[in-house]
Amino acid sequence: MDLKQLNAFIAVAELKSFSAAATKTGLSQPSLSRLLKQLETDIGVMLVDRYNRPLHLTEAGTFFYDKISTILTEMDTVVSMTQRLSVPSSELNIGFVPSILYGLLPEIIAMLKQSNPEIEVNLKDISSYQQMDALKSGEIDIGFGRFAHQDPWIQQILLRHERYVVALPKAHPLANVREQRLIDLANNRLILYHQTHLPISTTVAPVANKTINNKSVNSKKPNSLHNQPLSTEAVTEPLLYLFAQYGISPFMTTTVSDLQVALGLVAAGEGITLVPASLKTVRTEQISYQSLIHENVTSPIYLHTLKDFVHPKIPDLLIAIYQVYEQRGITYRRQNFVSSL
Ligand code: BEZ
Repeated sequence: MDLKQLNAFIAVAELKSFSAAATKTGLSQPSLSRLLKQLETDIGVMLVDRYNRPLHLTEAGTFFYDKISTILTEMDTVVSMTQRLSVPSSELNIGFVPSILYGLLPEIIAMLKQSNPEIEVNLKDISSYQQMDALKSGEIDIGFGRFAHQDPWIQQILLRHERYVVALPKAHPLANVREQRLIDLANNRLILYHQTHLPISTTVAPVANKTINNKSVNSKKPNSLHNQPLSTEAVTEPLLYLFAQYGISPFMTTTVSDLQVALGLVAAGEGITLVPASLKTVRTEQISYQSLIHENVTSPIYLHTLKDFVHPKIPDLLIAIYQVYEQRGITYRRQNFVSSL
């Protein structure tokens, strides 16, 4: 069994056609068929049912495809990690979710550059889930996000929990009220903007159907679920989850594509939203940001990197983060990534 045979099998399994697989692999159709036959002979099992149309895998072939495609993806990761060891360590590629950029990231990068004047930092706006693939492919060396990830290749540090604030249109009756309670916000339209939902459960809270930027808009009627005790198990949308923790289901919700659009709608008087406190400086002419009374209404900030390859500049990046935290009086617990190299 060799790599050529495995690649031929993967192409046939994925494209379900010998001619398409031959084009994709750059082989002639007879060569592709020969490689596949050799593979089946080597392992002594028929993997592809050639006698029925459309072409499909046998049960053993399906099992083999699931396992072998995972191994081949891991092989690619190992190759890209190995290649990365030869890249100059003065280049650091950082992935981030947008809400991180509004906060301390620029200050942290400036601090890192003070101690490492030769460093070349490249910043990439990548969603939390896409960061996992980008780390494995070598596109980024480190990722800042707001979700924990369970991935055998990835290690993470929880940097801190950032308090949420409520964003209200300037003309809103609560616009000047500090220390607000979630229950007092529940009869407003809540703008939701998270792309990734908490992996608490596979069930999403009930929503209805209007769209803005291809996103659904829920026009639930007032009192339909309002203030009914709601199981947090059923809620995966992060903002709804915060409300659900207090047994609250907001009257109406609108879901948009990202944080900027959400704040745009708040500025236009279309509703309210909750954002991490570091966004308090955005659109302040139209938006009033107020603190919440609840200490546990927070958004975590995680740092992710590969388990097997910690870029040599990451310890300095962590030092820069903790220096900024100290300057700003932010409480934190000092941690380090472990490197197996
Ligand atoms: C923070 O706000 O804690 C933070 C933001 C960006 C990078 C690291 C930490």
